[in-house]
Amino acid sequence: MPTPLYFDCDTGVDDALALAYLLNSPEVELAGIGTVSGNVSSAQAADNTLRLLALAGRDVPVAVGEHHPLAGDFHGGAPHVHGANGLGGLDLPAAVAAPVAEDAADMLLRLSREHDGALEVLAVGPLTNLARALERDPGLTGRIAKVTIMGGAALVPGNITPVAEANIGNDAEAARAVIAATWPIVLVPLDSTMENVLEEADRVRLVEEGGSLASAVGRMLDHYFDFYVTEYGRRSSALHDPLAAALAVGGVRAVLAPAVPVEVDATDGPGRGQTICDLRGQRPGPVDRSGAHVRVVLRTEPDLAPHLLERVLA
Ligand code: BDR
Ligand code: CA
Repeated sequence: MPTPLYFDCDTGVDDALALAYLLNSPEVELAGIGTVSGNVSSAQAADNTLRLLALAGRDVPVAVGEHHPLAGDFHGGAPHVHGANGLGGLDLPAAVAAPVAEDAADMLLRLSREHDGALEVLAVGPLTNLARALERDPGLTGRIAKVTIMGGAALVPGNITPVAEANIGNDAEAARAVIAATWPIVLVPLDSTMENVLEEADRVRLVEEGGSLASAVGRMLDHYFDFYVTEYGRRSSALHDPLAAALAVGGVRAVLAPAVPVEVDATDGPGRGQTICDLRGQRPGPVDRSGAHVRVVLRTEPDLAPHLLERVLA
């Protein structure tokens, strides 16, 4: 039986690649998708997601989630990374379906009751919807089997400030609440996502060998690859959201991932958005700290790109 999965995203180019991977993964069944403002607004992310689903000929309910972070206003997104529409500027055919009436937090709560103890959550955008769901019903934590989160930076620099990664830094209050809540969390930070890279030859294969969705994602990556030239010195891209998806599905393994105390800095100083992972005492070898509910994925195997291509091109 496939695992029921709630996918929370800010669709975005790498979110789109993660979605393409999930749709081709028999280990999970996408029970619902909630969107949140991050790379684009939550409404734009829902429209993007519905367009991608239409392209794949798949029908998954999509709920629009929170527009603003818990504190302050949505900053307008990351057009320099993901293009103005979040899909690298690619103009996809209009969506077939409309978003459902409930919001993303209510969708998550409903699914957690329908699949009590079995539902898994994969969050690859800011954690606003998850925080709202916890506010509405703190008992949510007891009904979820696992929460996989793409976010944070444990021992490496951030990507929107020297210490903050985008999904955490764009709603530090939400991230603080979600990571403090005692449900089993797998945190997939930049430490591991930046080590899993898609190269130009891989992108061309997506465009040329992929079906409608994979080929479109390959074209979207064209814009995304330009952004990563400053990071890697060549056109390529980090596989942030796809790595979190592959870990959630079991397509790659976490080979260095101690369970340790993690706290998110939600103060207004230069540390805002930092994921402070207590990795003291890990030098002799990975040690799970007693009572810690967050596993921090520092290294994965095997290399994600070949597995991702195999799945998405199937
Ligand atoms: C994360 O931020 C977003 O821009 C990406 O989609 C990914 O979820 C990487 O920091
Ligand atoms: Ca994302």
